Amino acid sequence: MIEEASTDAKVLVVEDNPGDARLTRELLIDAGWSNDTIAEAGTLADACQILTREGADVVLLDLSLPDASDLKGLTALQQVQPTIPIVVLSGHDDEMHALAAVQQGAQDYLVKTDITVDTVRRAVHYAIERKRLTHSLLEAKVNAELASRAKSEFLANMSHELRTPLNAIIGFAEVLEGQSKGELGHPSYVDYVRDIHESGRHLLAVINSILDVAKVEAGHMELTEEPVELPSVIASVLRLLRNEAAQAEVELECDLPDALPAIYADRRLLRQIFFNLLSNAIKFSRVGGKVIVAAEVLPTGEIVGRVEDNGIGIAPEQLEHITQPFVQAQSTFTRSYQGTGLGLSIVKSFAELHGGRLDIASVHGKGTTVSVTLPANRLLHEEGGTASQQAAAH
Ligand SMILES: Nc1ncnc2c1ncn2[C@@H]1O[C@H](COP(=O)(O)OP(=O)(O)OP(=O)(O)O)[C@@H](O)[C@H]1O
Ligand SMILES: [Mg+2]
Repeated sequence: MIEEASTDAKVLVVEDNPGDARLTRELLIDAGWSNDTIAEAGTLADACQILTREGADVVLLDLSLPDASDLKGLTALQQVQPTIPIVVLSGHDDEMHALAAVQQGAQDYLVKTDITVDTVRRAVHYAIERKRLTHSLLEAKVNAELASRAKSEFLANMSHELRTPLNAIIGFAEVLEGQSKGELGHPSYVDYVRDIHESGRHLLAVINSILDVAKVEAGHMELTEEPVELPSVIASVLRLLRNEAAQAEVELECDLPDALPAIYADRRLLRQIFFNLLSNAIKFSRVGGKVIVAAEVLPTGEIVGRVEDNGIGIAPEQLEHITQPFVQAQSTFTRSYQGTGLGLSIVKSFAELHGGRLDIASVHGKGTTVSVTLPANRLLHEEGGTASQQAAAH
């Protein structure tokens, strides 16, 4: 509930018509204010001066003043004291202006002919309280944004710190696994070292994902754009995932048109997009399942990359949230799949950094198709340059 502010609040009445000014003062006094808590100004210039010199807790502002009409008075007072609550006084004929004033940050408006002791008391109290609430909400929002930014910066720094020692762990595990400098001795040691190597690589992938999410959130992710051949990106990802698919007994199929124009994009980010989508499709497939990766240029000129599976699908109620970081359809307790829930959120951010979008179509129990669509101006035509660069040249 909103508490009523006290009638000690200093009110500045900005009104050029002396009769209206007197009436407003009398209504305020009947509502509980004392004479010396009410100041009056007949022009905008006077009002600004009083506000600067003495301040006020609330302003009652007539919209048509000799030196300001429409919303000019409102804007000027807001500039002098941005936190000042303002109640606009309007005639019957300029109620539209009064509404516009509320949209521009005035707290309320009163139609002069309808003002009563009660309406003026309520309007002043509510204006002060509402302004206070808006101000504290704004403050809370700024603090939350700062905290979120600090978190992203922290994650970015931590990920760097974690990656450095991991590189040594992975590197030396690899050397030990190869036994190039001599036998490890006990056969179990070879298994242990393989485990260290695999776990290290897995951890590195997780840290890299966190680093990507943190970088995007902190606004630090910059695109390194160059002409990229989509088929070669897809082929390199398929090579990386071949073993995983074989182990899961999932068939991988690639469906690309004979000629696909190059696109202007960030190669690493594109590779990550297809890696995340294909590894999801394999992970959430059943034994004997099939995953198809396809790409084409749409009649609109957009480029779409698509990964389709006939796996477990996603329930409709999960679809809406599934692209948020750390969100997974299976709860931690019932889950039998590995992962941190960052893959799709990264795909979405990377697609959006390219001006594109992510779409997911899924039937629970039947399969999922995830598409990434990039805008037509990313397409490189044979003569060189993107569609928009070419248009600009003509
Ligand atoms: N092809 C798919 N089929 C069924 N469910 C999927 C598919 N892709 C994603 N999901 C659901 O969406 C969730 C989020 O996917 P996302 O790739 O973001 O995370 P993850 O795969 O669980 O972990 P990570 O990608 O970080 O290793 C998954 O946990 C899964 O529940
Ligand atoms: Mg994933």
